[in-house]
Amino acid sequence: MRPTTLTKFLITRQRDGKIDADLRLLIETCARACKAISIQVNKGKLIGAGDVLGTQNVQNEAQKRLDVLSNEILIEANEWGGSLAAVASEEMEAPVPIPLPHPRGQYLLLIDPLDGSSNIDINISVGSIFSVLRCPEGVSEPDEKAFLQPGREQVAAGFALYGPSTLLLITVGDGTHGFMLDPYVGSFVQTQSDIRIPEDTSEFAINASNMRRWEPPIKRYIDECLAGQDGVRGRDFNMRWVASMVADVYRVLSRGGIFMYPRDAKNTEGRLRLMYEANPMAMIVEQAGGAATDGNQRILDVQPKRLHQRIGVVLGSKNEVERVTSYHAA
Ligand code: F6P
Repeated sequence: MRPTTLTKFLITRQRDGKIDADLRLLIETCARACKAISIQVNKGKLIGAGDVLGTQNVQNEAQKRLDVLSNEILIEANEWGGSLAAVASEEMEAPVPIPLPHPRGQYLLLIDPLDGSSNIDINISVGSIFSVLRCPEGVSEPDEKAFLQPGREQVAAGFALYGPSTLLLITVGDGTHGFMLDPYVGSFVQTQSDIRIPEDTSEFAINASNMRRWEPPIKRYIDECLAGQDGVRGRDFNMRWVASMVADVYRVLSRGGIFMYPRDAKNTEGRLRLMYEANPMAMIVEQAGGAATDGNQRILDVQPKRLHQRIGVVLGSKNEVERVTSYHAA
């Protein structure tokens, strides 16, 4: 049988009435941009991908050449297609309404153009994350307020992982599906269908250097994992931390696990961005049967107050995420 390409996958969903033509085009455009970014990631030091440019993004982080390039590639690919009303990026202070004379569509796009950028210059996997919302009715000049919708309103979410292979994980609300870039043909080919995250796991991912600043429920959970067989959990746990959320979440999607970047005494709101990282990943994980919380609340139910808002993130295998939530409630 011929493999299912991303194009075929999306057209099937359009015919089934799950997505409209504009959303199909938007997802395909993001995928095309991710192919272009993947080529630049691959060139690495040859194009000075990790060079610090001397500029800072809105979060006061030093921008690297690949951060800026990836942002430009995603914006340029999307601004003329006609599906979008506006785009917001982790790399830009304010959302950009689609400039005239390009036609405006009904969707809002949020992008984290290059996630895991501390890994650019050391040849470790990085990625791009995107989230799609509907532009509220009657809004002709979408500003920050138009974007401030809870994650459960997302109509699609996805991420590309630039690793040994380039992967694309997407959901349009009917499960999470995986594609691999065939670099010889230039197409994304479906390699995983309706991914299911195992409900139980013995693997956790957290930056343990922040341990002294964690809240007591997180400290308790990790202490219990570390106690292994001799502790209350009665079994040994393994730890992994790539420091690229895209790679850590892909591992969780592939074999289960719990990924945590909780709020702490230094990052009191959390470290990851609600709208560019937490929301799309929470949708992808929930659609694969997992769970995602900030410790107290389901991430997808959080009402955002600011575009660049940060949040604590605990996501992955359902039973472990529920355990962490119960420790917060205790
Ligand atoms: O933007 C966020 C990010 O790069 C994530 O992809 C990753 O999970 C995290 O930061 C890594 O943080 P740290 O550098 O604290 O390990």
